[in-house]
Amino acid sequence: MPSFTPTQMAFNKRVKIKTILEQDLIGQELTLMGWVRTKRSNKNVSFIALNDGSIITNYQVVADPNVIAEDILKKCSTGACLKITGRVEASQGAGQQSELIASQIEILGESDPEKYPLQPKKHSLEFLREIAHLRMRTNTFGAVFRVRHALAYAVHTYFNTKGFFYIHTPIITASDAEGAGETFKVTTLNLSNPPKTEDGKIDYSQDFFERETNLTVSGQLEGELAAMALAEVYTFGPTFRAENSNTTRHLAEFWMIEPEMAFYDAEDNQNLAEDFLKYIIRYALEHCAEDLTFLDQRAAEEEQSKPTEQRAELGLLEKLKFVIENDFVRLTYTEAIDILRNSNHNKKKKFSYLIEEWGTDLQSEHERYLVEKHFKKPVILTDYPKGIKAFYMRQNEDGKTVAAMDILFPGIGEIVGGSQREERLDKLSQRMEEMHIPTEELSWYLDTRRFGATPHAGFGLGFERMVLFVTGMGNIRDVIAFPRTPGNAEF
Ligand code: 4AD
Ligand code: MG
Repeated sequence: MPSFTPTQMAFNKRVKIKTILEQDLIGQELTLMGWVRTKRSNKNVSFIALNDGSIITNYQVVADPNVIAEDILKKCSTGACLKITGRVEASQGAGQQSELIASQIEILGESDPEKYPLQPKKHSLEFLREIAHLRMRTNTFGAVFRVRHALAYAVHTYFNTKGFFYIHTPIITASDAEGAGETFKVTTLNLSNPPKTEDGKIDYSQDFFERETNLTVSGQLEGELAAMALAEVYTFGPTFRAENSNTTRHLAEFWMIEPEMAFYDAEDNQNLAEDFLKYIIRYALEHCAEDLTFLDQRAAEEEQSKPTEQRAELGLLEKLKFVIENDFVRLTYTEAIDILRNSNHNKKKKFSYLIEEWGTDLQSEHERYLVEKHFKKPVILTDYPKGIKAFYMRQNEDGKTVAAMDILFPGIGEIVGGSQREERLDKLSQRMEEMHIPTEELSWYLDTRRFGATPHAGFGLGFERMVLFVTGMGNIRDVIAFPRTPGNAEF
């Protein structure tokens, strides 16, 4: 049978450091390419710590000044990019099994060590954010982006294995799926002198798409259309929200995974979400051991700098294992409100927003209280009041709540939002009218309820919030390569 697995043949002569560390290549002549992290020299020898991105570990290159010319050795400074040929030998020093004895070094890219912003010392994450174009060359960010990759790969693997189809939903849309009005406009009109209608409003009929358009806040509505044909689908794409939230959990541009399934009810949806989240976390644990061990130590050091009572009970790796080994707690919004209202935290007025009545939206402090203090487990909260949720959620028999689910994670708060969808045309149209959602513009969406409607459900996982959880980083700006937040779009 023909195999479609890529061959292991390399297309250049480079051998990856990961390969040398994983295979026994002692005695072999080979070529490495990578960036200098540090160089230590004395009269007789130079030791270069090289990193090539394939793995967190630097590889030691030994350069003898009798073999490598002095002017070349001088240029092997922190930040420079090198091509090194040599022989792998068992290392005499502690700290590594083997090292490369260089026979030839070519400087691929020089770097001025005086001006290179990444000095071989610990830099603050705030400083590294200002040099986001270079920060991936640090251990921390290298680890974060390798883990991010593994999680993305796990997402596709999971759904592919389950027979879901990957749908690419549009980035430019004319709708605001969540109805929150936090969209970025897309236009080619001349902003300093836009065409106007008779009543003085901007005339979007003269715009590129002949209508008002924006960047999508969610691929769900289009995902639902696809689910009405392919039954089980998912999207994984960028989404955009112009909410002015300067928090450690919000981005203006983030990636969202949105499965949508025909024939699923609310409980099927919860079961899928829990299984999916556990799968991708387990995948990262199994495939990113070195990076997660590094990040675990990093997180432990961060914890040490906090006051004792604020320190996390579990280390990063312990926390990840705990989540995959335990059932998530499932309860309704109404039950959660009772717990919160009667909590000592509420009575002693420790919440910034006190819980007084049924119907109020939960703030992240409440979500985190439930997960971190009360249950000490991930929580699936269901059946929220209809007044605080989107128009498309299925209305429950009580007339007050909808079949919503939010999944709350320790240290993060809401990581997933989803629901069973309202498949009944009359109920959906009525709700849209109540919430002033234009039914005419969304008539294509309502068509799925006119022709062959069926119960269906789905959810959205904020990808960066998942990367944040798995890497143990504290700020969402540090788990996406080039974060977009209010006031920030430099790189
Ligand atoms: O709860 P949200 O708004 O749900 C939806 O967009 C639905 N259409 C999803 C669906 O049912 N298909 O967003 C889903 C998730 C949140 O739980 C959160 O993890 C993440 O997206 N998210 C953000 N992540 C980073 N920055 C932001 N500004 C985010 N807003 C939401
Ligand atoms: Mg939500």
